[in-house]
Amino acid sequence: MFDTMTFTKIAGSLCGALLILLLGKWAAEELFHVGGHGDHAQAYVIDTGVDETPSDEPVLAFADVFAAADPGKGERAFRQCSACHKLVSGENGVGPYLHNVVGRDVGTAVGYAAYSGALSEAADVWTPENLNAFLENPKSYAPGTSMSYNGMRDIEDRANLIAYLATYTD
Ligand code: HEC
Repeated sequence: MFDTMTFTKIAGSLCGALLILLLGKWAAEELFHVGGHGDHAQAYVIDTGVDETPSDEPVLAFADVFAAADPGKGERAFRQCSACHKLVSGENGVGPYLHNVVGRDVGTAVGYAAYSGALSEAADVWTPENLNAFLENPKSYAPGTSMSYNGMRDIEDRANLIAYLATYTD
């Protein structure tokens, strides 16, 4: 039989062993975390000014997209414009008629008196490139424009629409 003293010694050494184990575990964790990446946020980030996140979106050049544009699809896209624009020469609505608008001088629809003046500040001629930039975001392209249209975000939609405007004949 163990006497009380022996029992205390055994219990004491077990406690000691446990303590060493816990200390060891703690030390290991501390070591592991120093310089470790784990799931800790980076303490500071040096901004190199370069966006290193690669985008999945290929950068499309408008000229390439325009070369492959489909006027038929552009006709459907024109529904977004037809509330305010007609394609028939001389028929102005809320906006000026868009007959022959591709290649037309900015702000020259005959008989349209409501030009804001903002468009001619932004461009001289409605080249496909200028139309592309304008239609993507009218208000940022021509600040102060009276054209209440939010913009067409998709470059292919814009290319198709401009191809439709360029090829339209009445
Ligand atoms: C809510 C009405 C409205 C809608 C929708 C609209 N426009 Fe306009 N648009 C206008 C107005 C108004 C102007 C004149 C803007 C100015 O002078 O600032 C204008 C001007 C233009 C011009 C310049 C024409 C010129 O003679 O210089 C083009 C090009 C044009 N719009 C194309 C479009 C196209 C393409 C769409 C469809 C994607 C469209 N707009 C949708 C009202 C609209």
